[in-house]
Amino acid sequence: MNEPLDAIFQRRAVKLFEPVEISEGLREQILNAARFAPSSFNSQPYKFYWVRSPAKKVTVAKLCLGQKPAETASALVVAVADLGSLSATTQAQLEWMRRSNFSEENIRDYELNAKIGRILFMPGPFGMFAAIKRVLFWLLSLRKVLGMPPLSRQDLFKWATKSTSLACQNLMIAAEALGMNTCPMEGFDGRRLSRYLGLSGRRHEIVMVIAIGKKSCTHNEPPQWRRPLDATVTVL
Ligand SMILES: Cc1cc2nc3c(=O)[nH]c(=O)nc-3n(C[C@H](O)[C@H](O)[C@H](O)COP(=O)(O)O)c2cc1C
Repeated sequence: MNEPLDAIFQRRAVKLFEPVEISEGLREQILNAARFAPSSFNSQPYKFYWVRSPAKKVTVAKLCLGQKPAETASALVVAVADLGSLSATTQAQLEWMRRSNFSEENIRDYELNAKIGRILFMPGPFGMFAAIKRVLFWLLSLRKVLGMPPLSRQDLFKWATKSTSLACQNLMIAAEALGMNTCPMEGFDGRRLSRYLGLSGRRHEIVMVIAIGKKSCTHNEPPQWRRPLDATVTVL
């Protein structure tokens, strides 16, 4: 076996952690692995809050319904789908392209695609543009093979959640490869946790909270069950 596969097959959702310190270097490696995940249009529509201060961890663990992995973790990572970062990300990538001497043609193409993306993705006031775009795309799809872009705000959060989840998986596999353990959690009070972190309901949605630490030696690991391959795969 090779190392990435070892980490993938060894990873378990750990429910009880030892109190260990996570060094700044280790934290950076884990978070870097997260941000190198693929994302739709390379838009990286997420934010991570790494909660390590003991007092803040206690509060966030309470908002994770007092679950044991949250209470015993060395750090809690709140993964947030972030629609508010999109135009800043486009600007940052443009600046990077200019600094890296991309051709004018490449830069123009990127700018044009970003503009089209902005128009396609904008739900507009009261979701008005979404309704217009839905009809337009439906009419076009009668004549053309067409993918439907995310139209409503809810669609946009679903779109951003896909990329956020991939980053979360990278984070968990990296943590495992670096000798740490994790537990992804969707058991949390989203409204209160968002308020605690100062998030905006229009732009942010918490996707999951990841407890991270070192598995306790008293942690009782249940056997791991998965559906058989032929129940999850259709080979065409
Ligand atoms: C999106 C998501 C949400 C989860 N939420 C919780 C949770 O709130 N609490 C918990 O203890 N485990 C949670 N888990 C962990 C799963 O229960 C666990 O991954 C599953 O039982 C399989 O076990 P394994 O990861 O050890 O193979 C969650 C996993 C995922 C992917």
